[in-house]
Amino acid sequence: MPQDLTLAGGPSGENGTVHEPVNVWDYERLAAESLDAGVFGYFAGGAGDERTLRDNLEAYGRWHLRPRMLVDVAETTSATTVLGTPVSMPLLVAPFAMQGALHADGELGTARAAAGVGTIMCLSTLATAAPAEVAAATPGASHWFQVYVFRDRGVTQSLVDQAVEAGFSALVVTVDAPFLGRRERDLRTGFAFPAELTAPSVLAGGLASRAMTPVDLLSLIDPSLSWRDIEELASSSVPVVVKGVLTAEDARLACEHGAAGIVVSNHGGRQLDGVPATLDVLPEVVDAVAGRVEVLLDGGIRRGTDVVKALAHGAGAVLAGRAVAWGLTVDGEAGVRRVLELLREEIRLALALAGCPSPSAVTRAHVSPAPR
Ligand code: LAC
Repeated sequence: MPQDLTLAGGPSGENGTVHEPVNVWDYERLAAESLDAGVFGYFAGGAGDERTLRDNLEAYGRWHLRPRMLVDVAETTSATTVLGTPVSMPLLVAPFAMQGALHADGELGTARAAAGVGTIMCLSTLATAAPAEVAAATPGASHWFQVYVFRDRGVTQSLVDQAVEAGFSALVVTVDAPFLGRRERDLRTGFAFPAELTAPSVLAGGLASRAMTPVDLLSLIDPSLSWRDIEELASSSVPVVVKGVLTAEDARLACEHGAAGIVVSNHGGRQLDGVPATLDVLPEVVDAVAGRVEVLLDGGIRRGTDVVKALAHGAGAVLAGRAVAWGLTVDGEAGVRRVLELLREEIRLALALAGCPSPSAVTRAHVSPAPR
């Protein structure tokens, strides 16, 4: 008997309850039902015709798993390490902005859930909680800090200093958003973040607290960012990960400019529409890097089998944003925890059924192109 879950303030069946969600798609549907159309559109949507948004998801369907039998999988573990930090699974929480718009638990809830499940949360620069608050809410946990380099470099430096001071162990610099992609869902709904939702970085950046559109927020970001800035950031005391790389050329440059890692990312299809699915460019990046730095991927992760396919293409781990956002929407910290637990269990099961007792056992021979 599936347990019934009453969703506080959320969507409901006729009797006020719905069956407990059993996968990420269930969480997405519940979130879509409960959120205001503008908020849902902002988090769910992509740029332009949303080709890349869709392709990120569809790419996983273009590959089959090639499972190996009679491998002893009795002790299968999903645990691995990223940049030297042990995690309970090769899935981290991707940075996404303004989590307080989804649930009052906001980033603190997401951070607690990630810590509870034994994985890393990457806190967005555009968060509704400060790095020190997140650290205080999750003693002993490992977090990364996503860096948007603001036009006002003093504000960026101070944010980075706060994060490092608070114990954040890596900086993830987003490089694919010199300007905001054209998000037509937001244009249609006229979406703006509620004025009462404040992000410390946005206030520090000089935008007064008022209802702000995503374009307003991104106006803080410096479009003149270049590899020289990456080099400068890489001289800080924590490793720098470059997020938003989609080509072998940029992957090589990231290695040459001091990055410790790369996130193959198209920003969840929210920036330049028409770029490939991240899974499709992952092998090119992995080959170019040739083991010099760690390669992670985000985009379209909804299933444990997606994660195994990404590992087979050479990712060390993946990051999931929307899956976590829907968990947060539906049930705050507990919802994020449940989503992460579901994904961890799906990953463990997919590894075992593919004949891989651990993430490091997955190779390119564990996938083949699905016949068209
Ligand atoms: C976005 C920015 C804020 O994708 O990262 O909306």
